[in-house]
Amino acid sequence: MNARQNVALQPYNTFGIVAKAHTLVQIATEADVQQVLADATLARQPKFVLGGGSNIVLTGDVKPLVLKVEIMGRRRVEETPRAWIVEAGAGENWHGLVDWTLAQGYPGLENLALIPGTVGAAPVQNIGAYGVELQDRFASLDAIDLETGKSFTLDAAQCAFGYRDSVFKHVASDARHFGLAGRALITRVRFHLPKPWKPVLGYLDLEKKIAETGVHTPSARQIFDWICAIRSAKLPDPRVIGNAGSFFKNPTVTPDQCADIIARDPRVVHYPMPDGSVKLAAGWLIDACGWRGKSVGNAGVYEKQALVLVNRGGATGGEVVTLAKAIQTSVYERFGIRLEPEPVVV
Ligand code: EPU
Repeated sequence: MNARQNVALQPYNTFGIVAKAHTLVQIATEADVQQVLADATLARQPKFVLGGGSNIVLTGDVKPLVLKVEIMGRRRVEETPRAWIVEAGAGENWHGLVDWTLAQGYPGLENLALIPGTVGAAPVQNIGAYGVELQDRFASLDAIDLETGKSFTLDAAQCAFGYRDSVFKHVASDARHFGLAGRALITRVRFHLPKPWKPVLGYLDLEKKIAETGVHTPSARQIFDWICAIRSAKLPDPRVIGNAGSFFKNPTVTPDQCADIIARDPRVVHYPMPDGSVKLAAGWLIDACGWRGKSVGNAGVYEKQALVLVNRGGATGGEVVTLAKAIQTSVYERFGIRLEPEPVVV
């Protein structure tokens, strides 16, 4: 185990914000976690688990001990008549895993291509795109309790997945409210990729690709290529322009609230949900308030997708947060909707 002091975090957060970790330990194996917990000085410190850094805004140097998860490995653990079960180390790159599963002949993750971040971070916010959420392909995960050092396994129900939400985003408030935020370090994730494979094509952008190409029965690899093209066309590549993907969640409202918003602007993009609620496109609300392309200092609103905040070069976390708050205020004043940020502000 190697505990390093004053480690630059700019390469480890996709926003590219300049900040340092007071102390950082690279976690390559489960044993590395046990060594941290056995170390008299490190064990006592509050801890911050860092995956691919694709869902955080750093507003200063990180004082808690940073555990940078680099547990690798990808393997098929089982094949049954109904599914392929694949396992990956939490430190594996997410997109790399999607590509690898397709190359091995295990389709099912193609709609989630090109999402930045690591495998271990994927369940935390139940990543989702183009009609598929992580929970639709999830089998189980292994984690270590950073307070007790005990390893445990959770199934999907225990992860309490919701829209960009899971048990890992909540703090245990009392005996009735179970939460693992800041407490669990995810080590390995297993995926359930159902057989026979069925393409998920019901998303407008994919329907457009089918119409454009005339390919009505695409392979999983073809869908993967389409998703990569769709995302590249409207989302900034974090290696070129720092960002953390969608900055806000798409809000859910009641049909009455939606009718009120339609009265304010009939063009509002909204989708009825199976439970009777209505989901609004946060990107549209932000765009309608005139934010697309605007900036606060070096933090800006991406020109091609107003839901994405970007680092135009040298942005501080404070500038990103100030911009986000200004957006929240104007969306609230115009539409009466409170936007909830997706990334964790550290
Ligand atoms: N829109 C605008 N102006 C904008 C942005 C969007 O009018 O500046 C409109 C679009 O025209 C479209 C609607 O808003 O009618 C929705 O936009 P889009 O299809 O780009 O999807 P989104 O709802 O903004 C969500 C996810 C993305 C995911 C896509 C595709 C959330 C918070 N975001 O975005 O996830 O890739 O759908 O499934 O749910 C992420 O979480 O980081 C992420 C990128």
